[in-house]
Amino acid sequence: MPIPSLSLPRVIGHRGAAEAAPENTLASFREAKRQGATWVEFDAKLSADNRAFLLHDDNLDRTSNAKGPARALTYDELRLLDSGSWKATAFAGEKMPLLAEALKLFAQEDLQFNLELKPCPGRARDTATVILDELKHLWPATKPKPLVSSFVLECLEIARDQAPDFPRGLLLEEHPANWLDLARNLKVATVNIWDRDATAEWVAEIKAEGYGLLVYTVNDAARAKQLISWGVDGVFTDAPARILAAVA
Ligand code: G3P
Ligand code: MG
Repeated sequence: MPIPSLSLPRVIGHRGAAEAAPENTLASFREAKRQGATWVEFDAKLSADNRAFLLHDDNLDRTSNAKGPARALTYDELRLLDSGSWKATAFAGEKMPLLAEALKLFAQEDLQFNLELKPCPGRARDTATVILDELKHLWPATKPKPLVSSFVLECLEIARDQAPDFPRGLLLEEHPANWLDLARNLKVATVNIWDRDATAEWVAEIKAEGYGLLVYTVNDAARAKQLISWGVDGVFTDAPARILAAVA
């Protein structure tokens, strides 16, 4: 099967609009849209009872009013937590959304998205299997297909085999010598690299191989302009309005 293609934006709201709103909440996605973003990125994982929900960290400590590993709680228990107050009192009561709630909002708001499979330790297989199944069933066939990415190779292998018509993104947090072998084997549409690793040379190399290229996380307007001038397709940013003003 050919690699599914997709049209990439210059700016993707990272975890929504994480500079202004609590990351990975519905409020953050609404804020990203308000700031002009047409795409958002978010992190998805499984609760103890295998429900797909949005959270970046393995632990609850940084972005909620609870502590400890998220995978230890059922979704009903996670739902009782406040994931907004840590950012600002105006966001008190924000929840860690279910994947299904986020998808509903994106469909209503015409937001395109990058779903990052972010499994808790030891949960790669279940996380990819459950989330891709849910995505296939819940995301309207009439809408553009989302980009599915992960740092976890097992998750991308499952995505390739279980949901081949969803475009995939290979997330890298260094510059591995075998990046092209990985990209070919996983049949990805994009390579998503860390800003720290992005050089004009590597950007040219990735583009010459025909891949979409996204860079995370770019909050500085001058740096975003430089990356785009090198040939990067788009950047993930916590501040969509600021970066859109520079590169749109
Ligand atoms: O998908 C881009 C970016 O979100 C990857 O890093 O740690 O912010 O999920 P992280
Ligand atoms: Mg992410």
